[in-house]
Amino acid sequence: MTRTVYVNGQYLPEKDAKISIFDRGFLMADGVYEVTSVLGGKLIDFNGHFARLERSLRELDIKRQISEDDLLAIHRKLIIINEVNEGMIYLQITRGAPEDRDFVFPDPQTTPQTIVLFTQSKPGLSNNPVAKKGLKVISIEDMRWGRRDIKTVQLLYPSMGKMMAKKVGADDAWMVQEGSVTEGTSNNAYIVKNGQIITRALSSEILSGITRSAVLRFAEEAQMEVVERNFTIEEAQQADEAFITSASMFVMPVVEIDQQAVGQGTPGPVATRLREIYLEESILKAI
Ligand code: PDD
Repeated sequence: MTRTVYVNGQYLPEKDAKISIFDRGFLMADGVYEVTSVLGGKLIDFNGHFARLERSLRELDIKRQISEDDLLAIHRKLIIINEVNEGMIYLQITRGAPEDRDFVFPDPQTTPQTIVLFTQSKPGLSNNPVAKKGLKVISIEDMRWGRRDIKTVQLLYPSMGKMMAKKVGADDAWMVQEGSVTEGTSNNAYIVKNGQIITRALSSEILSGITRSAVLRFAEEAQMEVVERNFTIEEAQQADEAFITSASMFVMPVVEIDQQAVGQGTPGPVATRLREIYLEESILKAI
């Protein structure tokens, strides 16, 4: 089946979808994105993703030119046309395509934003076998820019980080700034020690994960103790458990950090339980 995608008001077969070479997303990474997961053909935490999109746009002084209702309708239509049961929807909004390359922002009156959405079907996403095995991560220096709270399409360093991990047989990288873990290349990072769930507090140094916020809420509802503070790689290696969260991985255990086993070197009970709770609760609330 050919995938149908959405580009600036049109639903098109993916091979016919085109944007200008002058698009500022392409030339300057001047755009923001969201990835929303789909389970049972429904959207997980659409409102959370929309709220963060709104904030990312505002921080970049891009005035949104499409309503929340219209965006929701596009998400739903793409799920139906592409028959997505489990997977993700990728949404990107850029400052648009002016007539020429210029560092100065174009006038939004004459340069409409570029809005692109496409589906990624991933049958079995909720039953990912990796959750039984866990991930191996390496640590790398965090060399990204200072506004990681804005979900921009500027993903070169995270992509390089993932490649550094692959090169040494690991799955992902945790980034470290001034001795403390910031986050994973495309996920938030956690450790568990003596029953406490520890994760870095929100700031401009990390992305405010939509999954993070749901998981911390569920953890507190389940009487688990959550502490938002910095932690080091050494502390993570000595922890009882480690895990990550993101819209595409949900809650995923981390079993090895820089070739050192965490805990027993197998997925721990807290991460496993949080994954179950997250999946159960978010499916109930999916729209
Ligand atoms: N990444 N931190 C970073 C740097 C991320 O890129 C992401 C998401 C997260 C987790 O956010 P959320 O829980 O809202 O997905 C944290 C998406 C999934 C991606 O780039 O594919």
